[in-house]
Amino acid sequence: MRKNAGWLATLTAALAVAAGLAAAPAAAAPDMSLKDTMKKMQAQVLNGDAKPLVGMFDATKVKGKPEFANWNAMSDKGKAAAAKGDLDGAKATCKECHDAYRSDYKTKYGSRAP
Ligand code: HEC
Repeated sequence: MRKNAGWLATLTAALAVAAGLAAAPAAAAPDMSLKDTMKKMQAQVLNGDAKPLVGMFDATKVKGKPEFANWNAMSDKGKAAAAKGDLDGAKATCKECHDAYRSDYKTKYGSRAP
């Protein structure tokens, strides 16, 4: 019986380690949510109607990080243009943000995050 209890303790410990290992990669998984929003934005731009972009710029804005100093301003600018139906103005902010932050965001927090 003593021998069995020891075996059970070892098994319990092994299971705990396995559960810990399983949880770790999930917590560090890349965040695909902004990329998903971006795909919708792209589709909407191709659609040619600026108005539905308003909510997508909001969704983009909340994904910003403090070190991306102009992220919020760019999102707001895009949103304002979209609200006016100014598709070219909205598109200009897509490029502005991509040039400034896309690759950093992608590798640190986004679809290519470790
Ligand atoms: C404030 C920042 C910001 C704005 C504004 C912005 N984007 Fe992005 N965009 C990003 C970032 C960051 C990524 C990378 C996301 C990732 O891969 O995790 C990205 C990625 C993309 C991608 C690539 C998606 C893929 O499949 O890899 C497309 C397409 C895209 N954006 C389109 C747009 C369009 C169209 C607009 C404007 C209507 C726009 N974006 C506005 C930050 C922005």
